[in-house]
Amino acid sequence: MQFKKQPFNQTTMKIFLIIISFLSITIVHTVIASTLPDDKLWLRYENIQTIYNPSKYENYKNFFSSHKNIYCATDDKYSPVYSACKELSNGLSILFDVNMSIITNNNKTPATASIVIESLVDEYSLLNISTKLSDEEFSISYGNHHIEVAADKLSIVSNTGRGVLYGVFHLLNLLQRNANELPAKIIDINIKEQPKSRIRIWQLWDNMDGTIERGYGGRSIFHWEELPNIVRPRYEDYARYLASVGINSISLTNVNSCFTMNQQLLNITNINKAAVLGKLFASYGIATFLTPCFDSPMLVGNLNTSDPFDPRVIQWWKEIVIKLQNAFQSSRVTTTNNKKNASIIMNSGFIGFLFKADSEGMPGPSSYNRTEPEGSSMLANAVKDIGGIIIWRAFTHPGNLGPIKVGDQPLMQFKYFMELDGLWDENVVLQIKNGPMDFQTHEPVHSLFGNLKNTKVMIELGVTQEYTGQAYHLCHLPVQWENYLTFNTGCTSDGINNYNDGGKMLLLADVLTKGKNGWGFAGVSNFGETVVWVGNLLSSSNSFGYGRMAWNPYTSAKDITKEWVELTFGIDMQITKPIVNMMMDSWYIYENYTSPFGLSAIDDNCADRKQCFKLPNGMLEDRVDHYWWAGWLWAGVGKPPNAGYGGGFNLSRNDRMIGNNRSLEYGQTYCGKENKEIFGNIKQTPLRLLLTFHHVSYDYVLDDGRTLMDNIMLAFQLGQENAESKILNVWKTLKTIFINNNDQERWENVYNKLNIGIGEDTKNFTRSALNYFTD
Ligand code: GCU
Repeated sequence: MQFKKQPFNQTTMKIFLIIISFLSITIVHTVIASTLPDDKLWLRYENIQTIYNPSKYENYKNFFSSHKNIYCATDDKYSPVYSACKELSNGLSILFDVNMSIITNNNKTPATASIVIESLVDEYSLLNISTKLSDEEFSISYGNHHIEVAADKLSIVSNTGRGVLYGVFHLLNLLQRNANELPAKIIDINIKEQPKSRIRIWQLWDNMDGTIERGYGGRSIFHWEELPNIVRPRYEDYARYLASVGINSISLTNVNSCFTMNQQLLNITNINKAAVLGKLFASYGIATFLTPCFDSPMLVGNLNTSDPFDPRVIQWWKEIVIKLQNAFQSSRVTTTNNKKNASIIMNSGFIGFLFKADSEGMPGPSSYNRTEPEGSSMLANAVKDIGGIIIWRAFTHPGNLGPIKVGDQPLMQFKYFMELDGLWDENVVLQIKNGPMDFQTHEPVHSLFGNLKNTKVMIELGVTQEYTGQAYHLCHLPVQWENYLTFNTGCTSDGINNYNDGGKMLLLADVLTKGKNGWGFAGVSNFGETVVWVGNLLSSSNSFGYGRMAWNPYTSAKDITKEWVELTFGIDMQITKPIVNMMMDSWYIYENYTSPFGLSAIDDNCADRKQCFKLPNGMLEDRVDHYWWAGWLWAGVGKPPNAGYGGGFNLSRNDRMIGNNRSLEYGQTYCGKENKEIFGNIKQTPLRLLLTFHHVSYDYVLDDGRTLMDNIMLAFQLGQENAESKILNVWKTLKTIFINNNDQERWENVYNKLNIGIGEDTKNFTRSALNYFTD
């Protein structure tokens, strides 16, 4: 998409200048000191170790010791190119104990520089070099492997500022790990990489009052009440972490946007606050989406309707976009002249809206008897002129869309969005959760993926561990995501994605990245204000892994895990090996003691917190919603509190049967004979999803000769034992090494959490389950 600059009239220009001077004064002068000792997550830089390849390390150290001038194509502090220069200078200085300096474009010539940081096409280009790179792609080379940069220089170049930043983070990542991908001598370096997906967005469920929905790492990092005057240093680190793993966009507030504390997002005060954050994120190549309430015309604009067909409503949204455009104008815009990839979002600044509409109490087009495409079309039109995008969530439930949309949630979502296929505007992308329920421990991939032929789609992943142990358990999600991304949808590419590969069957990763309909990834944030950002340091592997998988969904979870462990804890195999192993095993272990055989939605959603406190001993305030395995609550109730979630759930104790009955309906919505058989036939359904699709007798005998009931009990027991022996105890054995490394605090952060989650709660889950099933 191209960012078209809006023509400015004089009055707008004056207002704009006033706002800008105000913002720049406040931004520059009121940055407050951080009050928190802050973990550096995977951007530690001090971790470089030479134990495995000292001669390579020496070669690089020598190079940087004698090549200290970084030529930076701009000195504009808000450009991603400058951010890249800063990061490189800082990173190299610490890693190699040298004093790097930045030479900016004031020097006009990079002649004295030995490292060139340059974006080739946008406004920062000085060298006027032709490039064969595509958008967001970067090249790291010495001499002129890819690009005609002057010889004898290390160059990190891209078409865009954002791409340059990715190149710098990539190089620093490799250097920190003394990675095999680096050649023995730096002068042989020759690396080119580009992301596979278009949108790689980080979606906050942070409310504007500082609380976070489903956040387990403390309150929100963002203090809206202080903006635009105060910009905390942590905001920039937030942007750095996201950019370092290739995230190119953000939505700033909760999708439950009609909650009272979020309703006024689009008033002018809040627009100006958002614009300050937008500017900061743009300096790291991150575009900003806003998440307003569908009823904003009434709530903010004082109209008496928000009907998308009402001309006043249409006009109101258009004016809002102009206001946003003006407020965000100061955000650095990265443009591209590469027409071939024009659909990739390359602009930073305000880029569009994300909507949760007609879902869990949020109003939407159906409130006005309009369809979802009709409602989204009004918004798509409003942002079209700025090359904007509307992300529309598919997370609807039976009943939310009126009486006709009833029944099993997965089936209802499937039928509903299939009916709407092809009716969306060109700049609308449908965001679908990975599975048809709600971020459960293990779900089947949503059958909408691959089946939708004429809808742009992206996947939504829950990086925050709402149903997967919150901050107290280890559940390393890249392993789960790899399982989903490699799922063969059984759908073929013919006609679906408009790319010519002879009608091959599509993996989920293909559906998300290829052709005109594959639009990428959304991850629900797990960052919060706690010292380690995520509550339990190990959970930051999910933040890191999300970015890396969104960048390239074909990368293996194991590689990503290893990378994260090395960046976070150093490359000593005494530490990395056991941690990688426990992380790789953790999803399966967690699944066993919470949700074996696809028995999902059995958590306690504990809407009434007081009620939760009356329950088992030692329950803490933050271990409530969607945390406890709720089997022990079911006694006398006949079904779990959350049963019925997703419909189809039939867990009456009296009939001694368990599991959802989806094999003949939802199970048949998948493409291809094979998938239909797999999910339709109890003998073929993978055991890990058995109860998601089938309603099975407790006495049903599995291939191992044991009954289902025995197997369920065994799974809980084994899960609990493995959590202890393969996770908690392994962590305990690492204590001495952490102490010797002067790193006890980080060890304790993890231990204190796991000791509650695995050491105590897991036993409760298991005891409850065993009691329930043996009664
Ligand atoms: C889950 C979660 C909610 C969230 C919703 C959504 O149901 O519990 O807090 O709002 O997902 O994705 O919109």
